[in-house]
Amino acid sequence: MNRYHGTCSALLALMGAGAIGCSSTASSDNDGSPPSATPTYHRDVRPILEAKCTGCHAPGGIAPFAFTTADVAIQLKDAIADAVTSRRMPPWPPAPGCAELLDDRSLTDDQIDAIARWAEAGAPPGDPAEFVASPDMPGGLSRVDLDLSMPEPYTPATAPDEYRCFLIDWPYEATRFVTGLGVTPGAPSIVHHVVVFFAKPGAVETYEAWDAADPGPGYSCFGGPTGDDAAIQGPSAYGILGGWAPGSFGRDAPRGTGIEVPPGVKIVMQVHYNIAHGMPAPDQTRVALRIDDAVERPAYTMPWLDPAWVKGGMRIPAGDPDVMYDFEEDAATAVSLFTKGALPADQPFTLYTVGLHQHLRGKSISLSTRRGDGERECLVDIPRWDFHWQSPYGLAEPRRLAPGDRLRVECHWDNSAENQPFVSGVRMPPEDLAWGEGTNDEMCLAWLYVTP
Ligand code: HEC
Repeated sequence: MNRYHGTCSALLALMGAGAIGCSSTASSDNDGSPPSATPTYHRDVRPILEAKCTGCHAPGGIAPFAFTTADVAIQLKDAIADAVTSRRMPPWPPAPGCAELLDDRSLTDDQIDAIARWAEAGAPPGDPAEFVASPDMPGGLSRVDLDLSMPEPYTPATAPDEYRCFLIDWPYEATRFVTGLGVTPGAPSIVHHVVVFFAKPGAVETYEAWDAADPGPGYSCFGGPTGDDAAIQGPSAYGILGGWAPGSFGRDAPRGTGIEVPPGVKIVMQVHYNIAHGMPAPDQTRVALRIDDAVERPAYTMPWLDPAWVKGGMRIPAGDPDVMYDFEEDAATAVSLFTKGALPADQPFTLYTVGLHQHLRGKSISLSTRRGDGERECLVDIPRWDFHWQSPYGLAEPRRLAPGDRLRVECHWDNSAENQPFVSGVRMPPEDLAWGEGTNDEMCLAWLYVTP
């Protein structure tokens, strides 16, 4: 049964016709149970929109239009219902059926059904007094101890995408722990994602040289914080504090944990600008940090990848539509190696948060575990990789991995002519790809946030 017709007219009127493709996808019947009372905007729909949509669909937000008031939401009822019943919105890359994730933005069947029935009933506003914020509403940072900003505004110039790294001074003269992170984009309509790294004390000069060599604020970087295609360690040694994508809110680190930051580091804030929808504008993005002097369990953020890939062991031939690499190892052994023994190989560890990373030709990526007894569990699976929607995924229930338990990252790429990125408006021809930090390189890794 196709419930919606002509869903686009109100939207197009708001946006200027033709700005985006609209379709009226048929929605499926519900399970046949009798519908409860007609949903209203204030009681049923607004809590969902505020928890799952208006992080992006706000004035000046990354989405091309806002629906933060009852009037506009009611006017857009059909477009909203169509976008959710077809599951185009909200963007949420992880597939269902793996581990339960924190701040999961996807809608439940009941939420979709409520929005669909509300639109079908003519979008009644209901009584504002009946509004109660959704318990799904992401909490944000509990406390801000350090508010860092890009030293000066930067206006990106390259369409559609530009990746830029900015160095920010770190004020503490003793070791501190980062126990929460939130990002406030300066120009929300063009800031597509932000990753906050720190250059380790011995590497700071290398980063300053990249900054000095590139005119204007910051320097050009891609995927990681480095200013050339250097490998992930060595003179460019860095740590990762966290990431942000539109629609995500700041978050405290898991209770009792935090990332140790020694004195003498520099913060490297990587900003991915996308000026496909928004006009170039000066941006001065800020990062808010929650800081503690000590934590119960220091956490480590570390990449999970095959070290051989970095040393030339990854080849993705030009024109090949499906190339797969995977890396599976005894988790405790590898985590011990990656943390240089800070987590002992013969002890269990706890995995809290997973970030997944590929570059522009990536097709899919997943992380799974296999327990000593052979049982495989999917933690996060991104079946359609989209470089534009990267964020860290917190496991609702942290996983404890014991020696003998294995972790596996699996990546697929499509390097055919049809799947090449546009750089400065021109579609690139397929080329052989290898590991590296440039737009024309590829990666396959999981970032893990772990504690002993
Ligand atoms: C993470 C940011 C983000 C969130 C959250 C989000 N949107 Fe969007 N939305 C976008 C962007 C960006 C576009 C522009 C088209 C695109 O890039 O896919 C868009 C486009 C749309 C469109 C027009 C195009 C289409 O596919 O129908 C509608 C309607 C829409 N969103 C509704 C919603 C609703 C309803 C929610 C919440 C249930 C939501 N969006 C949550 C970012 C977001």
